[in-house]
Amino acid sequence: MPHLDKKPFGTAPGGTPIDLFVLDNGRGVEARITNFGGIIVALFAPDRHGRQRDILLGFEDALGFARNKPYFGALIGRYANRIAQARFVLDGNTYQLAANDGNNHLHGGIVGFDRVVWEPRPVEDEGPALELKYRSQDGEEGYPGNLDVTVVYTLTLAGDLQIRYEAVTDRPTPVNLTSHAYFNLGNSPDILDHELRLNANFFLPVDAGLIPTGELRKVGGTPFDFRKPASIGPRLTADDEQLRLARGIDHTFVIDKKEGELATAAEVYDRASGRAMRVRTTEPGIQIYTGNFLDGTIVGKGGRVYCARSAICLEAQHFPDSPNQPRFPPTVLRPGEVYRQTTVYEFTAA
Ligand code: GLA
Repeated sequence: MPHLDKKPFGTAPGGTPIDLFVLDNGRGVEARITNFGGIIVALFAPDRHGRQRDILLGFEDALGFARNKPYFGALIGRYANRIAQARFVLDGNTYQLAANDGNNHLHGGIVGFDRVVWEPRPVEDEGPALELKYRSQDGEEGYPGNLDVTVVYTLTLAGDLQIRYEAVTDRPTPVNLTSHAYFNLGNSPDILDHELRLNANFFLPVDAGLIPTGELRKVGGTPFDFRKPASIGPRLTADDEQLRLARGIDHTFVIDKKEGELATAAEVYDRASGRAMRVRTTEPGIQIYTGNFLDGTIVGKGGRVYCARSAICLEAQHFPDSPNQPRFPPTVLRPGEVYRQTTVYEFTAA
């Protein structure tokens, strides 16, 4: 039977007690989510023989998530990915944000949405569902306006994990929310044999600080061409300047779809286990990240050492640095408007 259970999950760094919510669709998919950072702690999905396995990197306890910084499973905001020089101009005012990635701003700053305590509430939906609310105060990490954010995680009977985001503000502010889950669908310690398909004809090249240059580059003829399914491993060893700059793939792909349409962005398949994942989103881009910064110093669930390529992140979002790139789709939310985004991760096995 589909159900939602709640149990204590220790305390957040400030001492606030937090909980773990277990969403079970009764058909082999189970998501464990905490209201600390809205983190998806674990996600169990069946392989082609019906054997369940946790397909996310992470930790067994809240302390692990609090101590380590790769954003495992977390909600990211107020602005996912980088803002160059941690600065932007909006309506003639210059805003200085927290610089937490060299001189740049990354994933909402020093205390982003991934490290705050959200207000949880189980809700009725197409399956077990959890609503999380957070008020980001005016001035937090340098951003203007009080931003009220609501995220609803729903696990459907079909085995889809839906994430619906909404936000409203009382002053104009950039908003770009995403989920930073690290997936490994198989039993191998890395994702080199995972096959990836992307619904993208263009990607965004970056500079040495991983800020998009502003160019939309055709994927054709580059290692970034995943229009037909391709194993990830061989692509990462190609001789390519963009791969060198990012130490792998850490790039936004421009999803080939109409603005705001919920459409397929990516498909990942692990042939050995048969697990497959499809990502559908309303967002214009998807950041594909092959865990390039994981350097073997983090020991996670079950004593596993996490290294580059241990997992793949598929972060549906607007383009990085949009507040400074007038040609990118806009990310400013104004009072009276509602920010909305939906991303669905679908799990099957074949
Ligand atoms: C995103 C970024 C990467 C890195 C990770 C977190 O995927 O694009 O550059 O910052 O998050 O380590």
